[in-house]
Amino acid sequence: MKLFDVYSLYDIEPVSGKGNYVYTADGTEYLDLYGGHAVISVGHAHPHYVKAVSEQVGKLGFYSNSVENSLQERFAEKLGKASGYEDYSLFLCNSGAEANENAIKLASFHSGKAKVLAFGKAFHGRTSGAVAATDNPKIVAPFNRTENVEFVPLNDIESVKAKLSTGEFCAVLVEGIQGVAGIHCPTDEFLQELREVTTKYGVSLILDEIQSGYGRTGDFFAHQHAGIRPDIITSAKGIANGFPMGAVLIAPHFEAKKGMLGTTFGGNHLACAAGIAVLEIFEQENLVANAREVGDYLLAELRKIPQLKEVRGRGLMIGMEIEGSASEMRLQLLKEHHIFTGGAGVSTVRLLPALTITRSEADKFLAALKTLLNK
Ligand SMILES: Cc1ncc(COP(=O)(O)O)c(C=O)c1O
Repeated sequence: MKLFDVYSLYDIEPVSGKGNYVYTADGTEYLDLYGGHAVISVGHAHPHYVKAVSEQVGKLGFYSNSVENSLQERFAEKLGKASGYEDYSLFLCNSGAEANENAIKLASFHSGKAKVLAFGKAFHGRTSGAVAATDNPKIVAPFNRTENVEFVPLNDIESVKAKLSTGEFCAVLVEGIQGVAGIHCPTDEFLQELREVTTKYGVSLILDEIQSGYGRTGDFFAHQHAGIRPDIITSAKGIANGFPMGAVLIAPHFEAKKGMLGTTFGGNHLACAAGIAVLEIFEQENLVANAREVGDYLLAELRKIPQLKEVRGRGLMIGMEIEGSASEMRLQLLKEHHIFTGGAGVSTVRLLPALTITRSEADKFLAALKTLLNK
């Protein structure tokens, strides 16, 4: 059997990792500023993470959601404390798309309405509801097309008001920072106004923090810079450092009914052990503060480089707009300097490193980038 050929691949196979580096079988070292697409939060093969996951799989890797699982309780308690959402409830699932799917359902169950308002260039995942709220017709199958989702431009509050005043919407779905679109930030004022207008019309505000959350921007969630509290927050990616896990944080005014949401694998023992270990490492190593410090440093240094057309982002979620092709630049960084980065569109290079990145690793990247730009 061959693999269904949907991914464009680099001809490099990392077979091991340590900290912010990955290694091929011949021992070649690569600095990882992509974090496996914002997934590696505490670095590769972190000893505390490896121990916690290994011990758990040796005890009980999985049992269903029909029995008590104190690991879920422990994870929920830690996540509540770390994020500042101790009064919210937690629903666990397996991926970002699934988290958004459940968030939309919850808003729709709650209000009895069907429509969701999303934003231009948004990416929310590939399952039915999540992809319908994704502004990319190429990945929306005819089956997923629906009049239940409408789009307005990001940061355009007047368009939001006009839509919500129809009374047809159950939710507004917005990324903390648009990632796949190429790192575009909603302004703090826009998020504050969004909070006001959704409250006014009784519409749930759902913050998709799947890429922008979990400490990456220097606060636990990106929207916290704006000082707002959404009704629902979705999380995944860095939550379990590569073990598939998604989460929905739900405000107290939503009523849970038995059976309204559910999943076979969500919140399983291994995922929770991985998630707890990640939060323990966050605490022990002060990683959210590190993300802010090294992120601020990187952003400031990148903004001094005259050849970059624009540098966008917050903390360790960075988009650099370059002259010419981002994919060529990324290939050169990879082949000539052994540095993994991410891309977006034609001309954006994305940095999404683990929160463990150091200043000297940031300097290594800056030196490589300047060499390439001065060629
Ligand atoms: C903002 C955002 N939402 C949702 C998703 C979908 O997550 P997953 O691929 O885990 O389904 C992604 C993935 O890149 C994302 O960046």
